[in-house]
Amino acid sequence: MSSTTRDPDRFAALTAEVGICFGGDYNPEQWPRATWREDVELMRRAGVNLVTVGVFSWAMIEPTPGAREFAWLDEVLGLLHGAGIAVDLATPTASPPPWLGVRHPETLPTDRDGVRLVPGSRNQFTPASRVYREHALAITRDLAVRYARHPAVRMWHVGNEYGQLDYGDEAAGEFRRWLRERYGTIDALNEAWGTSFWSQRYADFDEILPPRRMPYIVNPSQAVDFRRYSSDQLRDCYRQLRDAIREAGATAPITTNFMGFFPHADYRTWAGDVDVIADDQYPDPASPTSPADIALVQDLMRSLGDGRPWLLMEQSVSATSWRGHNLPKSPARARADSLQAVARGADGICFFQWRQSRAGAERFHSAMVPHAGSDTEVFRGVVRQGADLARLRPVVGARVQAQAAVVFDWPSWWAADEPALPTDRLDTVAEVTRWYRALWRRGIAADIVAGGTDVTDYPLVLVPHAYLIEPDAAAALAAASEAGAQVVIGPFSGVADANGHIRTGRSPVLLRELIGASGEEWCALPDVDLDMPGVAGATASTLGERLRSDGAEVRARHASGPLSGLPAITRQGHGPGAAWYLGAVVDDGVLDAVIGEAAAGVAGALPGVSVLPDGVEAVRRGDALFLLNHGGQTVQVPVPPGLLDLLTGEVTNSVAAIGPDDVRVLIERQDR
Ligand code: GLA
Repeated sequence: MSSTTRDPDRFAALTAEVGICFGGDYNPEQWPRATWREDVELMRRAGVNLVTVGVFSWAMIEPTPGAREFAWLDEVLGLLHGAGIAVDLATPTASPPPWLGVRHPETLPTDRDGVRLVPGSRNQFTPASRVYREHALAITRDLAVRYARHPAVRMWHVGNEYGQLDYGDEAAGEFRRWLRERYGTIDALNEAWGTSFWSQRYADFDEILPPRRMPYIVNPSQAVDFRRYSSDQLRDCYRQLRDAIREAGATAPITTNFMGFFPHADYRTWAGDVDVIADDQYPDPASPTSPADIALVQDLMRSLGDGRPWLLMEQSVSATSWRGHNLPKSPARARADSLQAVARGADGICFFQWRQSRAGAERFHSAMVPHAGSDTEVFRGVVRQGADLARLRPVVGARVQAQAAVVFDWPSWWAADEPALPTDRLDTVAEVTRWYRALWRRGIAADIVAGGTDVTDYPLVLVPHAYLIEPDAAAALAAASEAGAQVVIGPFSGVADANGHIRTGRSPVLLRELIGASGEEWCALPDVDLDMPGVAGATASTLGERLRSDGAEVRARHASGPLSGLPAITRQGHGPGAAWYLGAVVDDGVLDAVIGEAAAGVAGALPGVSVLPDGVEAVRRGDALFLLNHGGQTVQVPVPPGLLDLLTGEVTNSVAAIGPDDVRVLIERQDR
């Protein structure tokens, strides 16, 4: 079946009508009817305007094979509609009823060790299973036919957090089909997988298996292809159900919830299939870097939607329950988290979940209505958030202008995540996150882009760790630097091609001309000192490179360890632009110094301030300047005078005193 293409106007039409969406997952099937009425009353009090219904309702709707119990859902949708609350109606397909797995064990997923997973939790399906697909499609069709034109249903939510890996027999067959399509001939596959190594040569596609448990290290090209296949297979599940919903006549936006930098789905290949990018975000309140780190995820989500507004589909209002040790959020912190997402382009703020579950695995996961009820700090905080979001209507639809591009690709992450590298301590997402913090401190928003994207419009381009680089990606970086950008490239970049084969010659082969330096050996590093003028106590660790300058200026040298005396950081000017190369994993201070210098000409969100006070975040979205204080102390932030704070109605003088976890949303005063 052909795919429909993304239509972002569908979500824009909803927010134009209701303003910023506000609500959460609503699971009425866990509660008696009397509670439903109280729920709706409390939702109105909190200003909730969108709830996701039915995510885990398959066993309620189809208690026995082929049954359809829709009456309760009719009632719930009617109640919500009567209260003016829109519904994001979910296909219940993430969690099949136990009977499906018991009657059709082939629908159950099999792990790498050949263990078949059983019902009793959730997600117990394999996306490759024909029988699962048939059942999921049948219930989705019936749901869609029944509710496509229901006035409460303003959005569709397919599945939930698609993310399974499956190594079973049916998956093996699907993997082979996918490989046939990708390679055409077994010779092409043998070439791409480098099967001359260790006698792995295949005579026929039928001999190929998923990378199940093996005696020793898996062929890395095979492993990365299995990741590509798994992401595509899950996306195909999504597409099939999405198409069924459209065919039933639904006109509302259709989406599914992403999970940030999730390893089992390349969301860049999914982004064109959802009408609105929706994401689940659970920053850990225990981590001091959470605000910056989640900002990166939010910039990624905005970028996946080409800068259009996105939807924060799930977050926790206080503690999660799936961490080992689950710190709560204060209501102020929860509010700041929500407003941060709006600052970075979200036009919808939702939670998991509306009412805290009394039973089941998530009985200690916080919710908008906690066990203790509505006479609680949590619920009062929710009411306050609803009121605040209503005040932010002027930002609906507005875009965030990013001044930097950060290059990140899932396949490169996957390839760099395989074992048997010089070090297993270099993680792509951890590096991207660390580099991004230097932008965050400066109020510089970033677009997170694929290698090969035209980045000539950005004054600053960061490539923290692009293990795989193709010629188009190398050319795009060279073009940006020629156009005047500061391009900063991190260690162990440009190592391999799309199949994971090492590019031979002095490294990084496709980038060495751009950076004016080249290397001949990558080395795992102990903690070493660097000699870097202007940065006291500079160090590197994890990985370095036996590097020489081929004309680039050397900005730092190894001062101890196996590469002592050799260049560690170089800079090659290209007219007004430049290409920096970090030939080692440098410490946070060095990274901040390099990115700070490269960003010197880039205006951050707060005029005249290059480095923001500790804990302060500044983002410009459309006409609005968002200032958030994630630190523990009140900070004095210089601001343009005469701006209106949309949250308080106050007008700024030239300094804003912002308390811990407080937020300002400042806008030129005009009749709005
Ligand atoms: C995910 C799921 C939800 C719930 C939350 C708990 O986001 O989609 O169903 O399990 O985690 O944090």
